[in-house]
Amino acid sequence: MTDWVSFYDFKHSVIYVNARHRDVHYRTIAQDICAYVTSPSAAVLDYGCGEATSADLIAASCAHLSMVEAAPNVRAALSARYAGHPKISVLTPEQAATQPADSFDLIVMHSVAQYLSAAEFDRLLAIFRKLLKPGGLLIVGDIVPPRFAAAAAALALLRFGAANGFFFAAVLGLMRIFVSDYLRLKKTVGLSHYDEAAMLEKLKRAGYSAQRAPRNIGHNQQRMTFLARLS
Ligand SMILES: C[S@@+](CC[C@H](N)C(=O)[O-])C[C@H]1O[C@@H](n2cnc3c(N)ncnc32)[C@H](O)[C@@H]1O
Repeated sequence: MTDWVSFYDFKHSVIYVNARHRDVHYRTIAQDICAYVTSPSAAVLDYGCGEATSADLIAASCAHLSMVEAAPNVRAALSARYAGHPKISVLTPEQAATQPADSFDLIVMHSVAQYLSAAEFDRLLAIFRKLLKPGGLLIVGDIVPPRFAAAAAALALLRFGAANGFFFAAVLGLMRIFVSDYLRLKKTVGLSHYDEAAMLEKLKRAGYSAQRAPRNIGHNQQRMTFLARLS
């Protein structure tokens, strides 16, 4: 395994300590994203959606949800799960990039930026500029700050587990992550970290007017969500 997409392409990603964790995780994210859907006629794009077991909640709040996933096995599972859903399509990153200009009212990229190089991230910000309707909103969530990220993530997972009935599985899950490819890839491929000022500057240079949201999407409030509009 040599990159983050193949890490996430495992059938049972070690990132989720069990099925309950995975489902509570995706339900929490879906509920948080729904709060940003301001109209039932909105077209929404979720870029790097992962296993997205609660995508139907988002689809119920908008006109159409396009889900983009780079990992082929995860994408195949999404296509099977949502086959026949009238308001959900599953796309490859290449298909997303070639959607018509001004296609989406809301684009969400949550917990993906840390796996992208600076150049990959800039390329995506340019694609999102094309895809966003005038007045549309880009949400970049779960941005990992440079300091204390691992300790904060572990603590947030334990708290999330305690609140949702999977505390002991979370303890075991953290031990499993220690012996997984996650730490090896972190050393070899690396993770991208941004503080608030660096992210605001990056979004500004990419042509967005942005601000940090009062709270992060999901359970880890040490991480940050940014709201960006075309400037
Ligand atoms: C932590 S998961 C996030 C899933 C979901 N958005 C969430 O918040 O739970 C990271 C996602 O980033 C995707 N990813 C990693 N590297 C990528 C890359 N270079 N290009 C596109 N997607 C990538 C993975 O396929 C995976 O779905």
